[in-house]
Amino acid sequence: MAHLPSPPAATGHRVSPSPGSSPSLPQRKAALPSIGVAAAAPSRSWRGAAAVARAATGSDKAAAARTTVNPNDVPVLSFSEVAERLDTFQTSGARNQNYMAMYSSIFGGITKDPSAMVIPIDDHMVHRGHGVFDTAAIMDGHLYELEQHLDRFLRSAWMGKIPLPFDRSTIRSILIQTVSASKCTQGSLRYWLSVGPGDFQLSSSGCANPALYAVVIESPSIQAPAGCKVVTSSIPIKSPQFAVMKSVNYLPNALTKVEGEENGAFTGIWLDDEGFVAEGSNMNVGFVTKNKELLMPRFDKILSGCTAKRVLTLAEQLVEDGRLSGIISRDVSVKEGKTSSEMMLIGSGILVKPVVQWDDKIIGSGQEGPIAQALYDLILEDMRSGPPSVRIPVPYS
Ligand SMILES: Cc1ncc(COP(=O)(O)O)c(C=O)c1O
Repeated sequence: MAHLPSPPAATGHRVSPSPGSSPSLPQRKAALPSIGVAAAAPSRSWRGAAAVARAATGSDKAAAARTTVNPNDVPVLSFSEVAERLDTFQTSGARNQNYMAMYSSIFGGITKDPSAMVIPIDDHMVHRGHGVFDTAAIMDGHLYELEQHLDRFLRSAWMGKIPLPFDRSTIRSILIQTVSASKCTQGSLRYWLSVGPGDFQLSSSGCANPALYAVVIESPSIQAPAGCKVVTSSIPIKSPQFAVMKSVNYLPNALTKVEGEENGAFTGIWLDDEGFVAEGSNMNVGFVTKNKELLMPRFDKILSGCTAKRVLTLAEQLVEDGRLSGIISRDVSVKEGKTSSEMMLIGSGILVKPVVQWDDKIIGSGQEGPIAQALYDLILEDMRSGPPSVRIPVPYS
């Protein structure tokens, strides 16, 4: 949402590279689109390392230098022409999710028009990463664990020295109203606090209007968990000061996920500075020990996951019925993790997902474990019929 690709124009002129030139920067399309033509649905091919390597070669730079620049190639557009092109982009199918409503404190209201769901380019969250975010699931017309996510959101804003544009209850009310306006009963609510727009400096001292943004995304209900593979991430973990804060600086997280996928895995797992198990790219990690204890790394150097904390509470039922012998949070060595009876990923996007292989090591029986399944069932039931402390009904008008 932060920035938009080349807008559509049926009659756009082309900036032609000189004959014999080769493609330079990694592209989402096989052929370079006209500067004034909308990008088609993105392809994944640009991700290839070869394309990245090509972008840095001298021959590409030479080709770029031979490009003929026609000052009239890029159209200069009025506000209404921009709006029209944003609409064309929206209807081109380039987005593969349903954005049902967006709130922005910049325009002080909610829009249900996805074309208008944009934020200012001079917002320091865009160009400096000076913003924080959080998410809450929408299940059967209820917001799940909104208070818990809001607590973390405001804590992250405080750690990130982001002044609040509104007090907590107003932020809460805006978020609920955004879901209400969206009419979405199944999906997720994502929201951001930013030091706001103002300039392109590094300091936020010129940003007079800290901003709140929120978007509602419709999505089908969560699928039953399938066992997955994970790999140890080679991307450096964030230092504890930044790992405990949910800031928009998610490049290490994104690269850990991409690295996992490049290695045929669901995601990557980080180890901390002492070599203990930390967390996944955007989820926490849990284990079942040989002694049937539910074991999780402490939250002091990683993000304190709302789902993981709720799982720790719900798991007490499994201790009561004897399926678990106890619940502990402490350092977990890689050896202990890889030889555990069960391993699982835990987060609001996946709930509880069993891990059946970590690097080359098969975990437990190599099948989805019974405790991961039981914890998934418990959290799903909590989302559907848990207490008011975790389920806020959305007052749809
Ligand atoms: C780095 C990281 N760890 C853990 C989590 C899991 O947190 P939650 O259960 O609140 O979604 C997330 C998800 O946002 C995350 O980004």
